[in-house]
Amino acid sequence: MRILVLADIHANWTALSAIRETYDACLVLGDLVEYGVQPIECIEWVRDHATAVIRGNHDHSVAQRVPPPTGSGLRGLSGATRQHHWNILTPSHLKFLSRLPVSQTLELDGLRFHLVHATPRDPMDEYLATDAESWKVRLAGIDADFVLVGHTHLQFHLDLGRLQLVNPGSVGQPRDGNPLAAYAIIENGKVELKRVEYDIDAAVRALREVNLPADILDLAESILRTGGRP
Ligand SMILES: [Fe+2]
Repeated sequence: MRILVLADIHANWTALSAIRETYDACLVLGDLVEYGVQPIECIEWVRDHATAVIRGNHDHSVAQRVPPPTGSGLRGLSGATRQHHWNILTPSHLKFLSRLPVSQTLELDGLRFHLVHATPRDPMDEYLATDAESWKVRLAGIDADFVLVGHTHLQFHLDLGRLQLVNPGSVGQPRDGNPLAAYAIIENGKVELKRVEYDIDAAVRALREVNLPADILDLAESILRTGGRP
C-alpha cells in the first residue's frame, strides 16, 4: 500500500496541486488554511481525497472564529489571511474544519498510524525539537507503529526503535530553508521524504491579488521564495 502523507498545506493550492503521486491512502496532518489565500481549493481537495484528516491550530482558529492577531510577522500573516478566509469560505467549509478530530489512530496495511498535528501532550500547539530523546519522552504513552506529525514545517524521519516518527514537512509554506513543497510517501512500511518544485511565482501572484498589508505580503513572499524566515 502506498500512503501519501501531507501536512501544513496552508491554503497554497498552487503547491498542493503540483504533487502528482499515485496513492492508495492519503493522510493529512492539519493546517489546511491560513498563510495562503487559496483555502477553498485546498479544503475541497482534502475533503474529496483524504482517508483521514486531523485538526491543526490554524484550522481551529478559522473554524472557531478566534479573533485574528494583528501586527507584523507570522502572527500578522495569520490574522490577515484569517480575515480573508472568513470573507470567502462558506458555512460548509467552516463546518468541515470545525469537525476535524485533534488526533486519530487508524490501521492501514497491518500498520497502526497515530496522527497528531503537534504533539500528543498539546495536539495543536506544542513545538518540539527534532531530537529523538525529546520525542521518546513525549511519545511514551502512544501505541503505534508510526506517529505522523506536522506543525513545525520541518521535514524529518526518526526511527525511535519501537515506532517511527515522521513529519512530512510543509506542502504550502516550507520553513527548513528549502522552498520546494514537502511531503512523504510511506510504502510497505518504508518512509520516503520528498520535495517537488511548484510555480512559486503563481503562488506569490495569488497572494498579491488579495488586499493584504504590504509588509505582510512581503513577508509571505519572502518565506515562499526562500523556504524560511527572512
Ligand atoms: Fe502550520
